[in-house]
Amino acid sequence: MSILVTGGAGYIGSHTCLELLNAGYEIVVIDNLSNSKLEALNRVSELAKTDFKFYKIDLLNKKALETVFSENNIEAVIHFAGLKSVNESIETPLHYYHNNITGTLTLCQTMRKYGVTKMIFSSSANVYGVTKCVPITEDYPLNPINPYGRTKLIIETILRDLYMSDQSWSIALLRYFNPIGAHESGRIGEDPNDIPNNLMPYITQVAIGKRDKLKVFGSDYDTHDGTGVRDYIHVVDLAKGHLKALEMVIQTTGIDTFNLGTGIGYSVLDLIKSYEKTTSQKVPYTFTHRRPGDIDKCYADTKKANEKLGWKATKNLEDMCRDAWEWQKNNPNGYDK
Ligand code: NAD
Ligand code: WQD
Repeated sequence: MSILVTGGAGYIGSHTCLELLNAGYEIVVIDNLSNSKLEALNRVSELAKTDFKFYKIDLLNKKALETVFSENNIEAVIHFAGLKSVNESIETPLHYYHNNITGTLTLCQTMRKYGVTKMIFSSSANVYGVTKCVPITEDYPLNPINPYGRTKLIIETILRDLYMSDQSWSIALLRYFNPIGAHESGRIGEDPNDIPNNLMPYITQVAIGKRDKLKVFGSDYDTHDGTGVRDYIHVVDLAKGHLKALEMVIQTTGIDTFNLGTGIGYSVLDLIKSYEKTTSQKVPYTFTHRRPGDIDKCYADTKKANEKLGWKATKNLEDMCRDAWEWQKNNPNGYDK
């Protein structure tokens, strides 16, 4: 029996594939490589010292997807495949709704056709929208404020309806906070296609000299130093959370939501300081205006994942900074050598 990983060549997917292989699972990966490189999977294979099947297909291609299900004995699906840029989703909402939602519908229809009813879905803290109190529990009202976040909420709703219609399904909705860092080998990591939107990849590109300086978006937030506070989580901790969720969906039926974060909020300046201290690299920065749509603080209440999944993040901010730098230093051009 294999675990199908959609979007497995991506940032979180590749780290999760490695953890799955290390834990002895057989995996099958599909990805259209629209935001990733095949080299990520070559390196996963190299690190795990084992091979696995890869299909370069688009989730929207129902026929190709059916081939994957007919050629393999799939036990469960970990569904990462999706587009993830908030800004891009505002510019091209139809593309985001089509890719993320239709892609998931096609996947679920195919799963149902082949009798596969166990699924882990990559949701996001983005579904909470503007959060007025922290830490955020899973029952916090859901009100995403951009098309990307709305695709996640719509998919969560679809999966709930699916479960209501057929209670043999077993689904975990994992709401990630801010994944950063890389595998400690420095062989796999985050490889943005363009100018990074997110803080950590921007910092690492400044540190390596690819970008001049970091723009810190806003210095007047209601936080301990005026800069935005987030719940940064090491991508390997996050990947391990999927293995715990997988154990749960394999053993039970139902649908449940879990926050995956550390439960600790760090500001932009905290992250810069920790990065400089851990890596001995300077990160020049300048303050600029707030980025539209940003909120002051967002961090998770992780009690539910701790108790029900038996999972807890173990890596700290220094680990995240060290591993992010190790990846960037060893791969100045990402997967393009
Ligand atoms: P990523 O872009 O690195 O990985 C997503 C992968 O899906 C890419 O390899 C891409 O090529 C593939 N893909 C996209 N559309 C596809 C399609 N139609 N068919 C086949 N493959 C397709 O992103 P990531 O950071 O690894 O995120 C993985 C998932 O987690 C996404 O669903 C994302 O929305 C979600 N998420 C990410 C974050 C984050 O900050 N990175 C936070 C919360 C949630
Ligand atoms: C973090 C902090 C910025 C860049 C996004 C998505 C979320 C999830 C994770 C997918 C904020 C500040 C950033 C920069 C800065 N992804 N910042 N200068 O916005 O919390 O979350 O990624 O699901 O849905 O919205 O992450 O890394 O962009 O920002 O000052 O160049 O860093 O203002 O306070 P964010 P981020």
